[in-house]
Amino acid sequence: MRIAGSVALVSGANRGLGQVYARELVHRGAAKVYGAARNPAAVTEPGVTPIALDITDPHRVAEVAGQCPDVSLLVNNAGVLKYSTFTSAPDLTAARLEMETNYFGTLSMCRAFAPVLAANGGGAIVNMLSVTSFYSNPFNASYGATKAAGWSLTNGVRVELHHQGTKVVGVHAGFIDTDMAALVDAPEDSPESVAQQVFDAVEGGQVEVLCDDRTRFIKASLPRDHELIYPPVQKLWDLAFKGSR
Ligand SMILES: NC(=O)c1ccc[n+]([C@@H]2O[C@H](COP(=O)([O-])OP(=O)(O)OC[C@H]3O[C@@H](n4cnc5c(N)ncnc54)[C@H](OP(=O)(O)O)[C@@H]3O)[C@@H](O)[C@H]2O)c1
Repeated sequence: MRIAGSVALVSGANRGLGQVYARELVHRGAAKVYGAARNPAAVTEPGVTPIALDITDPHRVAEVAGQCPDVSLLVNNAGVLKYSTFTSAPDLTAARLEMETNYFGTLSMCRAFAPVLAANGGGAIVNMLSVTSFYSNPFNASYGATKAAGWSLTNGVRVELHHQGTKVVGVHAGFIDTDMAALVDAPEDSPESVAQQVFDAVEGGQVEVLCDDRTRFIKASLPRDHELIYPPVQKLWDLAFKGSR
């Protein structure tokens, strides 16, 4: 699809990658860009129309779909990361918040906007996922589970909405230089590079974006994940575990 002239909605557009997505859409000539955020006053990007949205509130998600009937490109970007393990987190609070936001929030958005996109000729959905869609990393275990679920959701929604001409793009990335990765001491992609790859893919009709070398390596290694992916992960975790005792 062409971005010039389209009407886009980006969730979590007040900061981080979502703000850069919104900026890039304006730059590429989108006719209108809705910047959705829990606090719409924080959406300050020039050319972006703020709208209040908490993606974990299905009632509000449905209302926003009604208030934005012109959307032809939905960018499901909003997400949370709580750096929580499966077995040593004190309780399920972090895991539930991550799943409620990253999986159920994105699912609600896809459901609410599917008829809007159909009415506008099909359009496209972009779901912001992660390299952790493809493997479990104990340093952000419960977050990875939400992105694996999001990968399944993305593939399923693509199949379900094919008949109405909606393209569904899954975006997988390693670390990106935003608040979410502020604690990370590892190479990071710029949000600008991610946004450019994503909208090139939307315009070029690709269904998946693997943003960086590590993500491409991990996806390519899936048939041999227990030889290529998990041994170094295990080593790092064992070292960290030893260090913490
Ligand atoms: N940064 C990375 O290394 C990285 C790597 C791979 C994938 N990702 C994914 O990229 C996306 C954007 O992350 P980021 O790096 O820009 O993170 P970020 O800087 O922490 O920003 C997260 C955004 O999501 C919003 N958000 C969180 N919960 C929400 C909710 N319930 N309703 C509406 N908005 C909500 C936040 O709004 P508030 O300001 O109100 O909190 C904020 O705008 C996420 O899906 C993340 O999982 C990030």
